[in-house]
Amino acid sequence: MDKKKSEEEVSESQIAVHWKEEDYFKPVPEFTAQANVRDDKIFERFDIKNFPDCYKEYADMLDWYKSYDRILDSSNPPFYKWYVGGKLNACYNCVDRHLPKYKNKTALHFVPEPEDEPIQHMTFQELYVKVNEFAALLRDFCGLKAGDTVTLHMPMIPELPIVMLACARLGVIHSQVFSGFSGKACADRVVDARSKVLITADAYYRGGTLIDHKEKADIAYDEALKEGQKIEKILIWERYPGKYSAKTPLVEGRDFIVNDIIKNYYHRTVEPEQLPADGTLFLMYTSGTTGKPKGAQHSIGGYLAYVTGTSKYIQDLKPEDVYWCMADIGWITGHSYIVYGPLALAASTVIYEGVPTYPDAARPWRVAEELAVNIFHTSPTAIRALRRVGPDLPQKYNFKFKHMTTVGEPIEPEVWRWYYNSVGKKEASIVDTWWQTETGGFLCSTIPGIHNMKPGSAGPAAPGIYPVIFDEEGNPLPKGSGKAGNICIRNPWPGRMLTIWGDDERFVRQYYQRYNKDPKSKNWEDWPYFAGDGAVEAPDGYYRILGRIDDVINVAGHRLGTKELESAALMVVEIGEAAVVPVADPIKGKVPHIFVSLKPGYEANAEIEKKVTNALANEIGPIAKPGKVWIVPDMPKTRSGKIMRRVLSAIANKQDVGDITTLANPQVVEEIQKMS
Ligand code: PRX
Repeated sequence: MDKKKSEEEVSESQIAVHWKEEDYFKPVPEFTAQANVRDDKIFERFDIKNFPDCYKEYADMLDWYKSYDRILDSSNPPFYKWYVGGKLNACYNCVDRHLPKYKNKTALHFVPEPEDEPIQHMTFQELYVKVNEFAALLRDFCGLKAGDTVTLHMPMIPELPIVMLACARLGVIHSQVFSGFSGKACADRVVDARSKVLITADAYYRGGTLIDHKEKADIAYDEALKEGQKIEKILIWERYPGKYSAKTPLVEGRDFIVNDIIKNYYHRTVEPEQLPADGTLFLMYTSGTTGKPKGAQHSIGGYLAYVTGTSKYIQDLKPEDVYWCMADIGWITGHSYIVYGPLALAASTVIYEGVPTYPDAARPWRVAEELAVNIFHTSPTAIRALRRVGPDLPQKYNFKFKHMTTVGEPIEPEVWRWYYNSVGKKEASIVDTWWQTETGGFLCSTIPGIHNMKPGSAGPAAPGIYPVIFDEEGNPLPKGSGKAGNICIRNPWPGRMLTIWGDDERFVRQYYQRYNKDPKSKNWEDWPYFAGDGAVEAPDGYYRILGRIDDVINVAGHRLGTKELESAALMVVEIGEAAVVPVADPIKGKVPHIFVSLKPGYEANAEIEKKVTNALANEIGPIAKPGKVWIVPDMPKTRSGKIMRRVLSAIANKQDVGDITTLANPQVVEEIQKMS
């Protein structure tokens, strides 16, 4: 790489945490004895020589109306079709098929945030009834049919999985937007998905406050209309059925309280649609390198098979387990590992409405004790927060996890050890699962009954996944070299998204162009999937993920595109230029700092800082609020005029700025340093 290029393209992996390889922890024999996978024959079955037929094993975990003719059609890479010719229904697989054996078993436990409200338990039979009623409403009241899209902006209430499953029953493509996102962010996703129906809730609890959520729907409606997309109906679930809890008034003829109109659909059943395996189940928007969020379009058959298989083998789920994943269903983790995977396996899945540390840091342990949760799943950010506030609290409660997951960000070995010793009480197997919105399910993780755990490392590749780490020039690093590079997946797998909704070209550009040597090749082996993460493979084949190498910041496990944040800041009239960099944070992993320079004629003041913070919160949501707004006299720039984010990042992270002599304006660096 030439010097100039390397200066401009320094990746985030260079400022990522680097820790040494740690010693192993063995799974306890009690866990292994009951595990779904007890020996490593699985890796023979999923050997590359058995690819793609190995993925029959995951398809066999599902019920099919019509069996598929071919496992994989890879004739048009990188667009792949899994289980071609097969027909199935995701809702049927998550609900109906369990009724003969498990109809009276709990499917969902809903834990409201206020502790004086009782936990609600819903059996598979009750879930079946509610899903059918709502499917009838979607079909007959909203006129929705297979292939239509619908946007959901729902909080963590049990109606969210009900709505998703009702959509899946009809073949309606759901696009759930994280409830913490703003009305504007919701509108952007409504417009992109071309949804005519928005499903939301009046209110929900967060941090002890009953938040008016309906007001965001009004904003979403107005903003979508400005972009030419009219939302015809807004369906509103009431947090307290029969009592509208938002201050925002209803709009006649547009807004409908579901809890009222559902009465017209009581006792109705709707036959599940027999849908093609390569049909679309849902869209999940995520941030990328350009401003606009992209809709990862996930399939019915491939996705469901993959999340079911990985839930069984890596989450080690069984119908008798009580499983609690503390993620939000508004993210892919919630789709794959709160709703679809666990329910396909007939496990009982917990939905918690609010903040893990509300009203105190022992809340998760009280819930675990009360519900006898035995499998627990959360993020390093939550673990760090719980450890900081209440390191001794888990011992005080009588719960026992046999299995725990960490997901979404690198976990520091020190934090991992607290999770293992204090939360897992030295008995739980921990899996550190690396994957992405786009990948549908896990890519790297230990198999909990057979592999040793290594703090700070995700582990080997999941069955059937064949990673490769490339250097900048596209040369594969030798296996187990311990050198950092860009991790890619060599082969297709069923959980991968079909494409980016409405943008095949961006899909190819973003995930495949970088390491594809022949764009005309019809051989999947020429199309490695570029994940956008830096990684190291140790000699034992364990992968350590170093962080994003593109313009994406991982804040508390949530993906934010720097370009999205910057364009929101530019909406403030005073701002001339904006640059966002990730800054290390003891709890959230990373927080964004935003550097702005003002247009001529404006003076820096606290008011402008506030406007920038508000612009980010309004355009995206509170999670996008910057850790710090730096109003700088000018941005450090290369001679070609490119903002040097590397230098800004070094200043904000209190690191050495390195060689700045080639900058067009090196003197500005010192001025900015003085501001810290
Ligand atoms: O940088 C990686 C990080 O999270 C990114 C994916 O974010 P998202 O699409 O929101 O999906 C989150 C749920 C999987 C990745 O590109 N990441 C995810 N899991 C890990 C991780 N970084 C380190 N270790 C992990 N286990």
